[in-house]
Amino acid sequence: MITIKVFESYDEMSAYAAEIVKEVINSTEKPVIGLATGSSPIGLYKKLIEMNKNKQIDFSQVTSINLDEYVGLSSDHPQSYSYFMNEYLFDHINIDKANTFVPNGLADDLEQECRLYDQRLRDLGYADIQILGIGQNGHIGFNEPSAKLNTNTNIVNLTPKTIKDNARFFDSIDDVPKQGITLGLEGIFKAKKIVLVANGLNKAEVCKSFADEYIDTQVPASLLKLHKDITVCLDKEAASLIEK
Ligand code: GLP
Repeated sequence: MITIKVFESYDEMSAYAAEIVKEVINSTEKPVIGLATGSSPIGLYKKLIEMNKNKQIDFSQVTSINLDEYVGLSSDHPQSYSYFMNEYLFDHINIDKANTFVPNGLADDLEQECRLYDQRLRDLGYADIQILGIGQNGHIGFNEPSAKLNTNTNIVNLTPKTIKDNARFFDSIDDVPKQGITLGLEGIFKAKKIVLVANGLNKAEVCKSFADEYIDTQVPASLLKLHKDITVCLDKEAASLIEK
């Protein structure tokens, strides 16, 4: 079931989403959390860091598994998702980095990396909670709009729209990697719970699709309506095109 929550501000949205994550971590013996990158969850990660400092959450038993990574960027590249996770979360909480996993976009055999990543997910028993953002074109992870979506971890050719949207983080659009490695739809859907965060007017159009009754592989996030426990947290700008 999908629950849509609308908040006055990015800060309130982030705080609410962090509470959901906190409850899962605190009520699970060996929690597995699925993590996302992008600007949207940064506020949520800040709240988790505060909660860890205030001893409201303990990450010592947590295993994390990230959604996606650029192909061709090393973990010390400032725009790699591995670097992002250290910068915005892992370096500030008491998680054991040996228990944090991000796909290796530099693997010699990328297909094998995909299979190993799926095996890791299975071994972990999938995520207790999956945090998600959403691309302006409706992508989740790097599952881009397409007639066919992949169930497994896969290598994706990024769409011109995603390359353009993500160019803001790079010196020039030519520096944006052209491919990503991403969990597939099964890996995302097997999470027991999903919390998706989206903010800002540039997400308003795509977020409309959470409120209608259709699913469309050209808007991969619309499929999330089929998940049994998903909370979509929007600030009022991202929710501005949803009819009340
Ligand atoms: C990237 C990531 C997605 C993320 C999306 C939105 O392309 N692969 O996982 O959800 O960007 O990013 P932002 O939150 O910065 O808008």
